[in-house]
Amino acid sequence: MKNREFHTVRGYQLREQSKRLLTPAMEDYLEMIYRYSLEHEYIRINQLAEKLNVRASSATRMVQKLGELKLLKYEKYGVIILTDEGKKMGKFLLDRHNTIETFLKNIGSKNNLYETEMIEHNIRINTLKNIDLLNEFFNRYPEIIRKFEEYKAKYKASKFKDI
Ligand code: CO
Repeated sequence: MKNREFHTVRGYQLREQSKRLLTPAMEDYLEMIYRYSLEHEYIRINQLAEKLNVRASSATRMVQKLGELKLLKYEKYGVIILTDEGKKMGKFLLDRHNTIETFLKNIGSKNNLYETEMIEHNIRINTLKNIDLLNEFFNRYPEIIRKFEEYKAKYKASKFKDI
């Protein structure tokens, strides 16, 4: 691997969009493989394809690319196993997803899965950290969320009230 920065998640996140080693689609795959690996020893290509609603041939191609980056091992019978590097990156991707999803829920945006998927691939690390802290803050002081909910019930977003 040419760039040692890739070996830290922070280095990965700080890269410019155009220099990213993982495309958003690759990130989705890795996130899903990691999510699954928390409860199972491994995932097979067919299961992965099913979970992501893609064809097995597409999943195979993507998994091969992740394998070339040494994020996972693709073994016999379609078995996929994450390397330590892959686990580290996968954990980061899942934490990032959950942080954004929680934030959207906190501000009252429900059914936000698609929105989370759009935001997660483009958010910068400092914004993510701020959102994580904000989630913690809301968690510690739930009365703030209640106040915000009361406020929302009373007022409409002034700029968008006709939309
Ligand atoms: Co996601």
